[in-house]
Amino acid sequence: MSSLEPKDYLQKKDFAEPLNLKDLELFFEDSSVQKLAEKLGTRVYILSLNQLERNAKRFRAAIEGYPQFKPSYALAANALPQVAQTLVNLGFGIEVVSIYELKHALSKLKNVPFIICNGVSKHATQNQQKESLIQTVMKLQKEKNITLNFNSIEEIKHAKEFCEKKNIPLKAGLSLNLASHFQNSELQPGLARFGIHTEQIPAAIKLLKNSKIKIEAVQSHIGTQVTKLSKLVKNAKILCDYAIQIGKKLETIIETINIGGGIAVNYYKTQKNKNLNPDYTIEEYAQNIIREITQIYQKNGADPPTIITETGRWLTANTMILLLKATETRKTPQDKHQWIITDCSALTDTNDTVCFGQYFEIVNATKIHHKPTNWYNIAGITCDSNDVFAWPKNNTGPRKLPKTDPGDILTVLDVGAYQLPLRNNFNLLPKTPIYTHKGQPIK
Ligand SMILES: Cc1ncc(COP(=O)(O)O)c(C=O)c1O
Repeated sequence: MSSLEPKDYLQKKDFAEPLNLKDLELFFEDSSVQKLAEKLGTRVYILSLNQLERNAKRFRAAIEGYPQFKPSYALAANALPQVAQTLVNLGFGIEVVSIYELKHALSKLKNVPFIICNGVSKHATQNQQKESLIQTVMKLQKEKNITLNFNSIEEIKHAKEFCEKKNIPLKAGLSLNLASHFQNSELQPGLARFGIHTEQIPAAIKLLKNSKIKIEAVQSHIGTQVTKLSKLVKNAKILCDYAIQIGKKLETIIETINIGGGIAVNYYKTQKNKNLNPDYTIEEYAQNIIREITQIYQKNGADPPTIITETGRWLTANTMILLLKATETRKTPQDKHQWIITDCSALTDTNDTVCFGQYFEIVNATKIHHKPTNWYNIAGITCDSNDVFAWPKNNTGPRKLPKTDPGDILTVLDVGAYQLPLRNNFNLLPKTPIYTHKGQPIK
């Protein structure tokens, strides 16, 4: 692990844009982190809607050369209504993966331009729900701009049966699983169960032909935090080829290519770990995707399609920090590095660290002007021995920090994506509260 020099990356786009140094203090936007911790206590999340707006506007600027680009926000990343509504107000649609997310979007958000329903088992009736997600979407399509992507042959059969029974049409898309076009090692394990596999496409076409279902889109999401641009571009390219082929078979034009999410963020702030960060910026992503898709359609003599993205992580990761306090330091004979024990929990508040070894940068806000000199493992407060923010066991540590003392405020960066929905109250810790950078509570 390389040493941490916050002054090298604070305020830098794609690294720690909302954080900066003023008069030797660490600031999140225009608020001193130390003062926020004194006022609000520690084990709190702080959210910057300003940073979210900057991200959203930058995303929009990157795609503005392509008028038929329709970005959507993957609600799974962070379902706070304040977050989703900010993105909706900037023209983002909403992507949901369960009937509960759909209900949240319908009841908590205003003027959503369009909704896309993905996910598995959309044909099943969930606990206490009267109908499947597919049935709900069919009913809503009369009055709202809402669609769904079929994840399986079973889902298509279910929809077809319902359309016929009720004599109503359905506009939908096909979620494709393009794994057969990638090496196993190129994709995240576990993706195999998502989407219609390419060898199942003929069966899907057979069911869809002469049915009340009109296929308007194909979609493929090849995983999250995809650090190689070439994979995302390859996904888009293959998807276009399938859109053209499937369109011909169904005697229709598939007007929409939905390339899913996957845009990665720079969790690592130092050059040494550069290869674990994305090899592209959002601008390079947009340019390359647009170029590839336009070329394929031109070659086929077709009009360029509408492009949909379903982005969660890139839009939200850097919008939140987590404040914690060092409560003690200790060194055991077994450990090479000293431990910093904290009043916060990786298990409850940055759950991806414990589950997947997700690395989040950690800064000592109290000693922000001190040189990093000591190597530390950093532990959480709960009784689970894996409740650790940084240690060698899963390559999340050790971390080189200034000499850290009990009472120092530590700041975990980039926790705005996927950590809030995974929050829990293990050991009966209360759910960690969320405040804006102005110190206002967010409910
Ligand atoms: C179908 C689908 N689309 C989009 C996303 C969002 O991906 P990301 O947060 O990488 O942008 C996800 C989450 O993994 C997803 O499952």
